[in-house]
Amino acid sequence: MSNSVAKQLEEHPLVPMVGEVSKIVDETPDVKTFHIYYEQGKPFTPMPGQVAMLSLLSVGEAMFSVRGVDENHLEFSLKKTGILTDALHEIEEGQKVGVRGPYGNGFPIDFCKGKDMLFIGMGIGLAPVRTMIYHCINNREDYGKMQIIYGARSPQDLVFKEDLFENWHKVPNCGVDVTVDRGDDDWDGNVGFVPPFVEGLAPNPENTVAIICGPPIGIKFTLPVLEKLGFTNDQIITTLEMRMKCGIGKCGRCNIGSCYVCLDGPVFSLEQLKVMPDEY
Ligand SMILES: Cc1cc2nc3c(=O)[nH]c(=O)nc-3n(C[C@H](O)[C@H](O)[C@H](O)COP(=O)(O)OP(=O)(O)OC[C@H]3O[C@@H](n4cnc5c(N)ncnc54)[C@H](O)[C@@H]3O)c2cc1C
Ligand code: FES
Repeated sequence: MSNSVAKQLEEHPLVPMVGEVSKIVDETPDVKTFHIYYEQGKPFTPMPGQVAMLSLLSVGEAMFSVRGVDENHLEFSLKKTGILTDALHEIEEGQKVGVRGPYGNGFPIDFCKGKDMLFIGMGIGLAPVRTMIYHCINNREDYGKMQIIYGARSPQDLVFKEDLFENWHKVPNCGVDVTVDRGDDDWDGNVGFVPPFVEGLAPNPENTVAIICGPPIGIKFTLPVLEKLGFTNDQIITTLEMRMKCGIGKCGRCNIGSCYVCLDGPVFSLEQLKVMPDEY
């Protein structure tokens, strides 16, 4: 990051850093990945699980996981769900967008060190999980066995196929299991919902941290399975997708009791969630 960029972020935290969309990848019919280019280098380096506000001039802004970075790029994968994401799905390469961040706590990388890692992603929930998966891959000696479980509604809804079916199979001591709710004529993989799929795979809870992200309904039905397998509340980590406006603890839009999800989260252990008001 250049000195002028660092100064701007410090002095004007709500002003987005404008970058150019250099590449758009169609992941599924309603998910696209946007690679945003900064000539002077990416404006920040997020920790795994951190988020940022992405904006389109005259449309609006919303919070998203920073799914990847390199020297000059930030990457976001967006599911088409509303005003901003609908508009972003219509733009073309070369268009300018704004980003401000990074926000949130990110995954507890020190707590996870020395442990086996179980990753459970559902739908677009694989975007934040992917950041921690790549952190473990890039620091392989710090973590034990990796087990990645991913589920989507159908084969055409599977995101990040190159990771799921090529890249992650080459990682030492790492298993990848994929399921879809319903298959099609070309699909010869697993079929079934994530909770029973996880139960059948029966990951070992001993010295393991489970990171789980996805739609609330998927998380709701997978948590009892993990508990049944012997995972304790402090071994289960998830991210919350509360609605956010400022991202910096000023507007009060994202609070649960006295906790601001944009500052104290979005990553929480189940142990933390269980003592919070049931407002998420
Ligand atoms: C920490 C965090 C990380 C996230 N990461 C990602 C990610 O990586 N990828 C991704 O695709 N999404 C992610 N999201 C979700 C994303 O921020 C939201 O889907 C966002 O609302 C999209 O903006 P939009 O303008 O396109 O949709 P909106 O127009 O805001 O609509 C989104 C949905 O919310 C409903 N809605 C609209 N207004 C309200 C309201 N006032 N109250 C309740 N519901 C309402 C709409 O009907 C629609 O179903 C993340 C959210 C958070 C908080
Ligand atoms: S989004 Fe404004 S306080 Fe959290």
